Amino acid sequence: TTNNSRLIRAELLSFDADPGEDDTPAEGSVRHIEDGALWIEDDRIRAIDDYARLEPDLPPGIEVIDHRGKLLMPGFIDSHVHYVQLEIMASYGRQLLDWLNDYTFPEECRFAQYDHALALSDVFLDEMLRVGTTTAQVFCSSHPDSVDAFFTASRKRDLRMLAGKVHMNRHAPEALCDDTQGGIRDAERLISDWHGKARLGYSLTPRFAPTSTREQLDATGGLLRNDPSLWLQTHLSENTGELDWVAKLFPESRDYLEVYEQSGLVGPRSTFAHGIHLDQEMRRRLADRGANLAFCPSSNLFLGSGLFDRHAARDAGLNVTYASDVGGGTDLSGLATLKAAYQVGQLRGQPLTAWQGLYGLTLGNARALSLDSEIGRLAPGMEADFVVLDLDATPLLSRRHARCRTLGERLFALMMLGDDRSVLETWAGGRRQHARD
Ligand code: GUN
Ligand code: ZN
Repeated sequence: TTNNSRLIRAELLSFDADPGEDDTPAEGSVRHIEDGALWIEDDRIRAIDDYARLEPDLPPGIEVIDHRGKLLMPGFIDSHVHYVQLEIMASYGRQLLDWLNDYTFPEECRFAQYDHALALSDVFLDEMLRVGTTTAQVFCSSHPDSVDAFFTASRKRDLRMLAGKVHMNRHAPEALCDDTQGGIRDAERLISDWHGKARLGYSLTPRFAPTSTREQLDATGGLLRNDPSLWLQTHLSENTGELDWVAKLFPESRDYLEVYEQSGLVGPRSTFAHGIHLDQEMRRRLADRGANLAFCPSSNLFLGSGLFDRHAARDAGLNVTYASDVGGGTDLSGLATLKAAYQVGQLRGQPLTAWQGLYGLTLGNARALSLDSEIGRLAPGMEADFVVLDLDATPLLSRRHARCRTLGERLFALMMLGDDRSVLETWAGGRRQHARD
């Protein structure tokens, strides 16, 4: 063994399969070890077991970090977030289209400057680690410098991140619009510099149908067709004003989803943010292609977009991922996203169990993003990205925790009441990258 071998002793929780929607998780879906040990070597997990069972196998002198009384889980994953919107979170009083014009587009113009983009990338990644998020699929701005900066900051921390340059060639300030061919050349250069390097992946990023011409959507689809190892992220059916606009702009398409289908943008590595206003046939078309919908509950509530129908997606066999959608979202924290998802679910008669929520934030998101061979579980060979949670972070949380009788109750209270204070440490790439105190 190397010097970079460490053992963390803690209560361990990880999912091996979808726990289902019942109050008790499906047989074999949850791995929970009360007095557990996670053995990491360099940037990967070497073993996970009961502390007592692992202890005899340990090399003499191995560093043991004692986190007994704390809960260790895989690092959280955010399937859709805009790092360039961090500083305009909580801008008052608008729905999507006005919010984009009044706050978002002017803000994103600032990311033409590499230095600004690098500074904000660092701030963003620090904030993500503070809330236990170790992987995200990230919108940059339309400027290639904004992507170089983000990947540079991510590689410095050895984080697993997906990101891409926004393609948008109309209906926005000129400083934010690219032209179709120039944007494609920029994306090709970024892909060759960053895709598959260290722990980074490139996600093609046409903003949404209204800000691209058909020609630009087709050209982006061409890149995806040529290299199926790329990811793709965009927005779909978030707001009713947006739907009406898309119908006018693309009269040749019978619905919003068909705009993307006709340009070859719908595949197994495609994430469509929101997908609130869809019919069941559209959900099935997405499911047939293996795409996923990013459920962004705090954003949907903040922008007044609507209540996501999680059960309808599930019934269609469509993968749902969980996302903050900051700056539309009001909180970077994955726990806060689950809290909002629970609240949206309550208003729809679809409450979310902590099992389903925490599975979603970890293995569920990893699977839907085709990252589950690397992250999302505590298991030998997986990358050592994990979060150490403190369920007694404040006197009040500790009182609430003391009243919980079952693991299910503890996890649910964590999901509803937890925040950045509940994140004691965040580890990524085998290194402690955030410590609360
Ligand atoms: N649709 C197109 N662009 C955006 C964006 O930046 N945020 C959200 N929430 N929806 C969008
Ligand atoms: Zn978004």
